[in-house]
Amino acid sequence: MTREAVRIGVLGAGHVGPVIARVVLAAGYPVTIAASGDPERITLIARVLAPGAEPRWAVAAVEDSDVVVLAIPLHKFASFDPNLVAGKLVIDVMNYWPPVDGVQALFEDRRYSSSEIVQQRLERSTVVKTLNHIGYHELDDDRRPAGAPGRRALGVAGDDTGAVDVVTELIERIGYDAVRLESLSAGRLLEPGGPVFGASTDRSRFERALHAKAA
Ligand SMILES: NC(=O)c1ccc[n+]([C@@H]2O[C@H](COP(=O)([O-])OP(=O)(O)OC[C@H]3O[C@@H](n4cnc5c(N)ncnc54)[C@H](OP(=O)(O)O)[C@@H]3O)[C@@H](O)[C@H]2O)c1
Repeated sequence: MTREAVRIGVLGAGHVGPVIARVVLAAGYPVTIAASGDPERITLIARVLAPGAEPRWAVAAVEDSDVVVLAIPLHKFASFDPNLVAGKLVIDVMNYWPPVDGVQALFEDRRYSSSEIVQQRLERSTVVKTLNHIGYHELDDDRRPAGAPGRRALGVAGDDTGAVDVVTELIERIGYDAVRLESLSAGRLLEPGGPVFGASTDRSRFERALHAKAA
């Protein structure tokens, strides 16, 4: 898929969704954005924070997308309809934060990373984890062109090589060095409490931190 052909639908118009929409638009991808209800309610948000991103109902945003960015709080995920994103590549930017989300039984099974649990529920989608470990307020400012010294690294974790390729290209085009992790399970290293969560580091330090923890 070429960049122009990959249409992105962002589900979530809170803190992080509009910023993702903005940086993805700037990278040349067509973008739609939706919250949980009437798109009228996010028209102003989209116009101010992500000009060019089209506000839609969630169903319409997904229908018109090749890649869906799931940027909703995890405490809303249990009531999220998996059929909505069936057949789609889903980028999971979500984190499980019990102090914010409350204790969610679905995400309490520590044998699995949160994205594996998301994948288990979205069984007809292909889930790739990224963008969860950078703050929404940094996502604009930390972008750098490819090859710029100290360009910030972001991890990309998934089980499907083709899907990881698409997401890796997206991360690189946004303005970050994409570091591929071997699996969705390994994406646990990107989670809160993991070695790179919130870390603003270049590729080599990012990889060293991952390997030190995984060893
Ligand atoms: N904040 C950050 O810096 C940051 C960075 C990386 C990752 N994350 C992760 O991203 C997720 C979202 O964080 P946030 O801070 O942006 O949350 P937030 O400010 O609370 O925004 C949540 C958004 O999700 C929407 N939403 C809820 N259920 C939905 C559904 N079923 N379909 C479509 N939209 C739905 C809400 O729309 P309504 O208002 O219409 O319900 C709202 O626009 C969390 O898991 C968080 O851990 C956050």
